[in-house]
Amino acid sequence: MNNQKNIVITGVTKGIGLELAKTFLEKGDRVFGIARSTEMPEEFKSDENFTYWSLHIDSPQAVEQLFADSKIKFDLIINCAGILKLKNLDSTSVEDWKETMEVNTSGSFHIAKYGTSHFLKNNKKGMIIFIGSRWGRSGSAKAPAYAASKSALRALVKSFQQEGIISGIRYILLSPGSVLTEMSLSVDKDLTDNILQTHDIAELIAYLSNTPDRMIFDEISVKAFPYDFKND
Ligand SMILES: NC(=O)c1ccc[n+]([C@@H]2O[C@H](COP(=O)([O-])OP(=O)(O)OC[C@H]3O[C@@H](n4cnc5c(N)ncnc54)[C@H](OP(=O)(O)O)[C@@H]3O)[C@@H](O)[C@H]2O)c1
Repeated sequence: MNNQKNIVITGVTKGIGLELAKTFLEKGDRVFGIARSTEMPEEFKSDENFTYWSLHIDSPQAVEQLFADSKIKFDLIINCAGILKLKNLDSTSVEDWKETMEVNTSGSFHIAKYGTSHFLKNNKKGMIIFIGSRWGRSGSAKAPAYAASKSALRALVKSFQQEGIISGIRYILLSPGSVLTEMSLSVDKDLTDNILQTHDIAELIAYLSNTPDRMIFDEISVKAFPYDFKND
């Protein structure tokens, strides 16, 4: 297939990342999935277009090596891996704070840094899509470390975009509200189809990944309606 893309997706073992991998595989693309689990997700085991790498995005050495060693020329990178510790200020330990910033912010930085080097080395314009959060814009008393990690990610992506005008690489931030996954169920165990579904986000990202080079959504906020307007 001529227009088959090579796509790196982090956080593919669950939730939004898993759905993204399914969506792009169904469209005929090749997916290179990343997460910490040592086991590849069962549904992809017999798919020859799926490759799995067990890797922690918070390890700069591992991320650097992955992009340096790969013989594949990637077209698109989607950084979906993230963690949420649902703890207010009083219950957030220093370790919680560090771990959240390491995965959500430093991990995104590593993916951006070495992903960009990969695109430049291969003379590719490429695109990197990051998953932020509505709490990165509003803050949240329920999870200040998480909100800060996603707010810092927002500043990172806006900075990368300014540098991208030289390279032609497009960096995009998608900040969802509540999406039905294990993560959102840890916030509210009664969530069902009244909030965003993983395929809503996957289809939105598939659309974003197909926009022409002359076009960029500098940031996107998408909320569950009306749930996210009633629940902070
Ligand atoms: N669900 C929501 O309502 C919502 C709302 C706004 C934003 N988001 C964001 O959307 C993204 C996906 O969320 P989700 O709801 O799909 O979460 P999820 O179901 O908890 O999945 C998180 C994924 O990230 C992987 N992961 C975690 N830490 C990692 C690390 N250090 N290195 C590599 N992989 C790692 C996990 O796999 P392993 O455990 O195998 O590593 C898993 O595949 C996150 O960035 C989250 O902050 C979610």
